[in-house]
Amino acid sequence: MEHTLTQIKDYADLTVAELAALVDSLRLPRHMAIIMDGNGRWAARRGLPRIAGHKKGMEVVHEVVETCARLGVPALTLYAFSTENWKRPPLEVSFLMSLLTLYLRQELSLMKRENIRFSTIGRVEDLPAEARAWIEKAKTETAGNTGMVLDLALSYGGRWEIIEAAKKIAADIKSGKMEPSALDERTFSGYLDTRGMPELDLVIRTSGERRVSNFLLWQMAYAELYFTEALWPDFTQRDLLIAILDYQGRQRRFGKTSEQLGS
Ligand code: FPP
Repeated sequence: MEHTLTQIKDYADLTVAELAALVDSLRLPRHMAIIMDGNGRWAARRGLPRIAGHKKGMEVVHEVVETCARLGVPALTLYAFSTENWKRPPLEVSFLMSLLTLYLRQELSLMKRENIRFSTIGRVEDLPAEARAWIEKAKTETAGNTGMVLDLALSYGGRWEIIEAAKKIAADIKSGKMEPSALDERTFSGYLDTRGMPELDLVIRTSGERRVSNFLLWQMAYAELYFTEALWPDFTQRDLLIAILDYQGRQRRFGKTSEQLGS
């Protein structure tokens, strides 16, 4: 803890270019995920409607995706809409759905330019037809890209994902396709929406909240968690680099002792 705080104090004196130069490209998180929280509060503080916060939040998504792709992060999952978010006022829900369509229309060129492969997790079938059509288009047109995987969590919930996996496993056992004894962590992971994606190494949550909110529950088992007070619309490239540097400054033990890791 002491170590982390000292580092953050030091980072304050550095420019974005200096911070970027400090990032060790060989020890990037293999998979980063972000809970983009605080759009509503950002707007309220300015006397604006909540949707203004989501709109500004979308601009931040652009910058974060571009920076992660250029750094060489292999996979980035963004929590864009949870299974619980359907309970929001209908106008906000429909605005978020139109924003998703707008995002895909605008950002497909960035994905192509930066060699990003677009992907989703969650119940995409719940989304309006226009959003689904753009999702399909973005997936198809970036399918051959070999750089970062940009994964949007849409109508996603961690418990839902685990239950869906359990149902598929039960069906495979019932039909004789799989023996119960064959089930282990690796095979279970293969039934999740994130199958084929690298291990989740770093989860960032903005806005000062310290919860995981039903996000990537299985995948989070060994991930490092990073919380920042910044509201999502205020989250900068600088904040992103500091989060990655903080992650790179941590010792990950995966249940072992520091002595074992040192030897
Ligand atoms: C949480 O802030 C944010 C969301 C539920 C939506 C996230 C959406 C974006 C960042 C913009 C669109 C992005 C894409 C990729 C289309 P909140 O509304 O819960 O904020 P609050 O806690 O301050 O109310």
